[in-house]
Amino acid sequence: MTDSSAHADGALRLDGDHERIAAYYRDWAADYDHDVMSEGYVSPMIVAGLAALAVPAETGLDALDAGCGTGLVGRMLGQRRPEVRLHGVDLSPEMAERAEETGAYASVAGGVDLLDYAAAEDSPHFPLVLCSGTLTLGHIGIEGLDALLDLTEPEGHLAVSVRRTHSLEDGYPARVAQLAEQGLVEIVSELINAPYLENGGADYWLLRRL
Ligand SMILES: C[S@@+](CC[C@H](N)C(=O)[O-])C[C@H]1O[C@@H](n2cnc3c(N)ncnc32)[C@H](O)[C@@H]1O
Repeated sequence: MTDSSAHADGALRLDGDHERIAAYYRDWAADYDHDVMSEGYVSPMIVAGLAALAVPAETGLDALDAGCGTGLVGRMLGQRRPEVRLHGVDLSPEMAERAEETGAYASVAGGVDLLDYAAAEDSPHFPLVLCSGTLTLGHIGIEGLDALLDLTEPEGHLAVSVRRTHSLEDGYPARVAQLAEQGLVEIVSELINAPYLENGGADYWLLRRL
């Protein structure tokens, strides 16, 4: 067992450096679920809950869990929408391996940088994209929001959490409002400073790409 709070805080100081992020989560993968759960981490539950609002029960479609980590989102979504074929990608092979072990994913790929994945010429588009805990300080900046929307097909939905401190620093609420004003997204649901971890909240959005 590790000092869970030190782990969660340390993850914010990785400066977006891929090698450091990958090494950090390699070393944390085995304890991650225990640690974040004991810190009251509810983001996977809320993101999966928002995504379920976008998918009628018993609908089979392909969805992407971007930055899937150990697969907490997949486990939550699987309880609500078992027919959804969820595909996970993550920078950390060790975290992705754990997601695969959950059995909640149709496919999982580790060693994948989300920004490169979205920017690739042959990048896939999904009717549903979920992203929990990955758009955060030290990981991916606000450009991650555009990358996630690029991966979402028109009329598809994006369910995302952004740690509140990071959301304020990077101006997520203003960016989401701007995208809505420009007619690029519809804000289906918005939760501002909602529960995330015991030591801080997050903003959550369910967006429909127009
Ligand atoms: C706090 S964990 C969240 C994992 C999971 N979504 C959850 O809510 O439990 C952040 C994850 O983002 C991944 N990550 C960080 N930067 C990334 C990037 N550029 N591309 C893909 N995954 C990334 C990390 O490897 C880690 O698994």
